[in-house]
Amino acid sequence: MSQKTFYIESYGCQMNVSDSEIVGSILSERGFRLAQEAEQADLILLNTCAIRDNAEQKIRYRLRELKQLKKQKNTIIGVLGCMAERLKNQLLEEEQLVDIVAGPDAYRSLPELVEDAEDGKKAVNVILSKEETYADISPVRLNSNGVTAFVTIMRGCDNMCSFCVVPFTRGRERSRNPYSILKEVEDLLKQGYKEVTLLGQNVDSYYWNGDGAKKDLLKKGQDRNAVNFAKLLKMVAEVDPQLRIRFSTSHPKDMTDEVLEVMAQYSNICKYIHLPVQSGSNPVLERMNRGYTAEWYLSRIDAIRRYMPDCAISTDIIAGFCGETEADHQETLNLMKTVKFDFAYMFMYSERPKTLAERKYKDDVPEEVKKNRLNEIIALQQQHSAEKVQQQVGKIHEVLIEGDSRKSSEMWMGRNSQNVVVVFPKKHHQKGEYVKVVATQCTSTTLIGESVE
Ligand code: 5AD
Ligand code: SF4
Repeated sequence: MSQKTFYIESYGCQMNVSDSEIVGSILSERGFRLAQEAEQADLILLNTCAIRDNAEQKIRYRLRELKQLKKQKNTIIGVLGCMAERLKNQLLEEEQLVDIVAGPDAYRSLPELVEDAEDGKKAVNVILSKEETYADISPVRLNSNGVTAFVTIMRGCDNMCSFCVVPFTRGRERSRNPYSILKEVEDLLKQGYKEVTLLGQNVDSYYWNGDGAKKDLLKKGQDRNAVNFAKLLKMVAEVDPQLRIRFSTSHPKDMTDEVLEVMAQYSNICKYIHLPVQSGSNPVLERMNRGYTAEWYLSRIDAIRRYMPDCAISTDIIAGFCGETEADHQETLNLMKTVKFDFAYMFMYSERPKTLAERKYKDDVPEEVKKNRLNEIIALQQQHSAEKVQQQVGKIHEVLIEGDSRKSSEMWMGRNSQNVVVVFPKKHHQKGEYVKVVATQCTSTTLIGESVE
């Protein structure tokens, strides 16, 4: 019998991209081969997102598209990830063509689930785990540029932000053994990778002392063998000075000065922090259960700038959360003006079933108002982003080349430490090389320049 082939599509966050690479590894181990296109595969997997309603609508649309293919080839269709976890068996009833439903902690059982599906059984595993970190699995790099890679350092989330479905779809927070992280990073380095992004829902609460528990001990300085995020960053930074390190996502309530100190100390840790604020209004932050005030958030921004004046900061903002007044919205705009974020991901609030907000608060901001507020937020951010990029023109940037620029095969594309995309003529440079580039012009998001010796 010829080898079975699989194809996997990732939706949503970077964590899903990383998870798909774990799935790729589990299937390859069991004899499956990666297909280049969905049309050729025996098994198509969609690794899904449930964070907002429109993310789920996108998956439903894709499933409808796949209906034709299933008719022709009898392809097995699997839904993985957050939407699978949220809807469980219901998904099989609602979407008749789905054969497999597997939640984020169930990927080791995928080969068995595929066998069940082949036998005509509906195959579902949505059991969440308190321990699973897939620590021993070496991810198969999918769609890789061979230069940058994701490394998952923890799974799940215990924060319970009231708007967020993630604690329900990804389960309890657990940290991965730091030595397995180091091993993965060293392996990547051997394969020629030059940059890793450490991933977690809240990297600042990374904590490992053998069993992952008893967080407060480290705060009191009693458990010297334990590894917190600052220590982990240091360990990864010391693997090789030529290896760049990024991480995401930071949480304003947990980001310590110790982390900032380590970032400032190591030039190979990129000077970029993604620090979601969500809102600039204290009553809204309180209802969101974020665990900080606007004043606290601003004090963390001050701390970042104290340690690293050149650090770029990006954020997430939600417009129109339950009970948000025009005055609350103005507070968000004011906070944005105070901070001047380099970049932001901006969303309209989307009520998610079972979340704290759905149970406790009314989704009472009219759609039109949400939309208008979001547009104001986006317009302001566009100004700030453009200003920030403009300020970088005329300066010299250290850029890691990731590949061809999107618009021209004569130009390289890479990023500087602050995560800004820089485009420049190829000359004799190679992919994976660090190059000094002087920025001579810019678009609203990208620097354009020329390498200097
Ligand atoms: N509605 C809108 N945006 C949301 N996010 C999370 N949940 C929701 C929701 N229900 C946003 C937050 C978070 C980012 C990943 O997605 O801003 O930081
Ligand atoms: Fe969701 Fe909050 Fe956890 Fe982020 S920190 S995944 S927004 S619950």
